[in-house]
Amino acid sequence: MQYFNWENASCSIFIPNSVCKQGSIPVLAVDAIWPEHVMSTLELVRKYDLRLTIKTTGHDLLGRSTAYGSLLLWLHHMKNMTMVPTYQTCNRTTISNAVRVDAGVQWSEVYTMLKDYGLVVLGGTSASVAVAGGFMQAGGHSPLSRWAGMPTDQVLEYDVITVDGRRLTVSPCQESDLYWALSGGGPGSYAIVISIVLRTFPSPVMVGSLQTIQAPNASRYNQLIREFFRMLPSFADRGLSGYFTMQDTKLSITLIWPNGNLTALNNTMISFYKKNKDLNFEENVVAALPTFYDFFRYVLVGRDPTGYNGMVGSRLLPERIVRKSINRLSRIFIRMNGKGQQISNLAISLVAGGKASDFSKSNNSINRSWRTALLHVFYARGWNDDASYIVKREIRTDIAHKTRLLDRLSKRELFGCYMNEANPDEPQWKQRFFGSLFNYNRLKRVKKQYDPRGILICKRCVGSDDWSTDLNCRK
Ligand SMILES: Cc1cc2nc3c(=O)[nH]c(=O)nc-3n(C[C@H](O)[C@H](O)[C@H](O)COP(=O)(O)OP(=O)(O)OC[C@H]3O[C@@H](n4cnc5c(N)ncnc54)[C@H](O)[C@@H]3O)c2cc1C
Ligand SMILES: *[C@@H]1O[C@H](CO)[C@@H](O)[C@H](O)[C@H]1NC(C)=O
Ligand SMILES: *[C@@H]1O[C@H](CO)[C@@H](O)[C@H](O)[C@H]1NC(C)=O
Ligand SMILES: *[C@@H]1O[C@H](CO)[C@@H](O)[C@H](O)[C@H]1NC(C)=O
Ligand SMILES: *[C@@H]1O[C@H](CO)[C@@H](O)[C@H](O)[C@H]1NC(C)=O
Ligand SMILES: *[C@@H]1O[C@H](CO)[C@@H](O)[C@H](O)[C@H]1NC(C)=O
Ligand SMILES: *[C@@H]1O[C@H](CO)[C@@H](O)[C@H](O)[C@H]1NC(C)=O
Ligand SMILES: *[C@@H]1O[C@H](CO)[C@@H](O)[C@H](O)[C@H]1NC(C)=O
Ligand SMILES: *[C@@H]1O[C@H](CO)[C@@H](O)[C@H](O)[C@H]1NC(C)=O
Repeated sequence: MQYFNWENASCSIFIPNSVCKQGSIPVLAVDAIWPEHVMSTLELVRKYDLRLTIKTTGHDLLGRSTAYGSLLLWLHHMKNMTMVPTYQTCNRTTISNAVRVDAGVQWSEVYTMLKDYGLVVLGGTSASVAVAGGFMQAGGHSPLSRWAGMPTDQVLEYDVITVDGRRLTVSPCQESDLYWALSGGGPGSYAIVISIVLRTFPSPVMVGSLQTIQAPNASRYNQLIREFFRMLPSFADRGLSGYFTMQDTKLSITLIWPNGNLTALNNTMISFYKKNKDLNFEENVVAALPTFYDFFRYVLVGRDPTGYNGMVGSRLLPERIVRKSINRLSRIFIRMNGKGQQISNLAISLVAGGKASDFSKSNNSINRSWRTALLHVFYARGWNDDASYIVKREIRTDIAHKTRLLDRLSKRELFGCYMNEANPDEPQWKQRFFGSLFNYNRLKRVKKQYDPRGILICKRCVGSDDWSTDLNCRK
């Protein structure tokens, strides 16, 4: 697992002579290469009533791709990618330049393949996350979502194997209930995805800026934070996306403006710099990169370390509330600020709103938090392998407390969470992860239809409420 804590295996490469236990690592695994391997694994699971886990990359932040005593179906080596020059949708629309990717393909691989065609897909910031696995089935978010839509809205077709061993083509008019559920209804819950067909876009020119700013003390830092976030509504109005991280007295800014106006962004950032000249700008660049691939290669790559302990808590903040309460929100960000000494970080992602809010062209289960949000805010903490139980308990409490500060923005509204970057201990996870209880229950009906025995079961996934906490016994 990328987040090693979910292995619960006791040993550490950082602690000499530490003893390894099996922990939550599956005892046996199938390294599936052909769809037939998936079919025979499912046959075995049905015959012996085994606990199954599905893993592609093991990037899961909630530990959903490993489990104690389970049999693992590993999909990493299903690596085919093929261009589909013209894709005929079931409503007889022709879509050019689609791409079919198999379950094991990772974002860096499809970005690299498509660069030769001048095309992009709407994917994540991490090179190594899988395209068709947990990311897509939870809706996904991308530096290009505000520009072109939610990643899941781009899935034209899924090729799946159901738990009873049927190979199905799933589209808005074939097995449409399953299409609806797979598109945003949570990973590993309805069927095993073997490949997907995705819509592509001509690559935009990537206008953007990078600033890393260090303030000399807390009061000056707080002033910087308030001043910077006051600009957020205007960034949103102009169609920018962004990632902002806060720790100690440091603010890091990544702004992205697909096909944007370089002069205009430069003017904005130069005047921001001039107002804050007393601060240390460790990095201060405004530039245009000719393709998304260049942006991926020079700006994003190298940001996903593996083998650490980590946990996050998050909220999707509605656009209406962010715009109305931006000053209040900045003060909350200051209270949630990360601390280097605690290995904590506050990450504010401007990845919702714009085209990501558009329901009209898709019929999927992303309803409704993502469609009304502007920001995805998450607070992350790490810890060392030798952290005591007390320290770990304090970390859990801190994550819950910091996340709840955001809830003060509204007395009436329950904010959603992006289920892939959320706290598995979140109360009201059904409403927060799946949009509403209504949506959750509808997803559960689809699950019952395709997986009546509950073979595909994972933590905080649809249907997991019917099982004991270790998910080994039906309630
Ligand atoms: C460094 C880093 C950066 C990230 N950046 C982004 C980002 O920019 N945008 C974003 O939206 N998310 C991002 N994420 C979150 C990411 O979407 C989740 O971690 C996601 O769960 C990873 O999916 P995976 O299939 O690669 O991982 P895995 O751990 O292998 O699987 C995750 C879940 O999906 C299930 N699953 C996997 N493959 C299949 C399949 N073929 N069929 C059915 N179920 C399957 C698993 O059972 C598990 O429940 C990031 C995560 C990391 C670690
Ligand atoms: C982790 O391992 C310990 C010791 O083996 C065990 O007591 C505990 O229940 C495990 N935790 C989980 C979440 O599996
Ligand atoms: C990958 O695609 C090629 C070409 O279409 C095909 O010959 C091959 O069998 C595929 N491999 C797998 C593992 O699906
Ligand atoms: C969306 O899909 C669901 C599930 O298949 C279906 O019941 C509904 O009629 C569809 N809605 C539209 C507008 O196509
Ligand atoms: C913080 O830094 C600012 C700007 O450098 C300075 O004017 C101010 O006096 C400092 N405040 C404290 C409390 O040190
Ligand atoms: C880009 O922004 C500059 C400065 O605001 C403006 O003068 C110019 O007209 C803009 N260019 C386009 C193509 O909109
Ligand atoms: C931004 O503006 C500054 C000051 O006018 C100028 O020196 C710099 O070259 C500009 N940068 C870009 C990328 O346009
Ligand atoms: C047909 O389906 C495609 C892809 O699912 C969709 O983008 C398009 O809007 C649909 N067209 C009509 C007329 O429904
Ligand atoms: C979203 O869910 C609500 C109920 O919570 C429902 O009324 C609405 O029709 C749904 N919208 C879409 C586009 O699915």
